[in-house]
Amino acid sequence: MFGKKFCRPKIVSVGAGNVGATFAQYCAEMELGDILLLDIVEGLPQGKALDLLQAGVIRGYSVSIQGSNDFSEMKDADIIVISAGFPRKPGMSRLDLLEKNGKIIANICNYIKQYAPNAIVIVITNPLDIMVQLAFHLLNHPPSKIMGMAGCLDSARMCSFIAEELHISQKQVHAMVLGSHGDLMVPLPDYTTVGGIPVKKLISPDRLEQIIDRTRKGGAEVVSLLKTGSAFYAPAASSARMVQAILHDEKALFPCAVYTQGEYGLSGVFVGLPCILGIHGVEKIVEWPLSEESQSALMKSVEEVKQGIQSLKEFGFAIT
Ligand code: 2OP
Repeated sequence: MFGKKFCRPKIVSVGAGNVGATFAQYCAEMELGDILLLDIVEGLPQGKALDLLQAGVIRGYSVSIQGSNDFSEMKDADIIVISAGFPRKPGMSRLDLLEKNGKIIANICNYIKQYAPNAIVIVITNPLDIMVQLAFHLLNHPPSKIMGMAGCLDSARMCSFIAEELHISQKQVHAMVLGSHGDLMVPLPDYTTVGGIPVKKLISPDRLEQIIDRTRKGGAEVVSLLKTGSAFYAPAASSARMVQAILHDEKALFPCAVYTQGEYGLSGVFVGLPCILGIHGVEKIVEWPLSEESQSALMKSVEEVKQGIQSLKEFGFAIT
């Protein structure tokens, strides 16, 4: 009655569980676009979407938020964020989810190919580096349009631990964590600063090593506390931040799981590297000099990803 239909970006969250729904909440709060929650559980995405929409009256956001079990509704999505899959339980490694979550990713990719072949895709489902590689293989997307969320989350965890250690605002800490999203991730103290001061000048080597170790086990720490699932606020916030950087064409620097084509001496494998996010997705992978120790840790981390890909092949998945 008052005007034409809105013309906002369409953000699709595949998975309306804790991560997917919280991601939708953060996107709504930032009014990044119209949001569609998709899930196979009947009523779940519809119920959460309705609740989230109504919360907007109080919270002061106004975007369309819908939920559906019909995956054809992802049609014409600008960005699809996949969190669907099984979460870890205490004692499980992310790799334990390989086969079950691989099947879920393969199903979702069929829908993306059919209904939203041009969407930028961000994968959150674990084991993340392997799931994003599988999706890349199945979708045949250009490498710039498919990435995994992890470095952003792992870096946030490291920032938070450093801020706690120094009794300083989290906002002033910048950390960088590369590599796979697993125990072999590669936190980079050389590229971590507090208000512009290198962290190595502020925290003793022993203490910093403990913080690095806690960062590597950051996901497991939350799993062991929750007991019934894994972290969701920080993973959802990290992916919403990536979507914001893309839709607002920020050209912002984030570590993301990206397809390598020679960078850091790596090729044909997804792993966390620093990159520039803008409207075209991953617009550039940035190459920094790494210490010998970090470069060799990165290689080990890539070996872990390659082993995961090999296991996926052994489970019968067609993946290169
Ligand atoms: C985490 O690290 C869920 O992998 C995710 O918490």
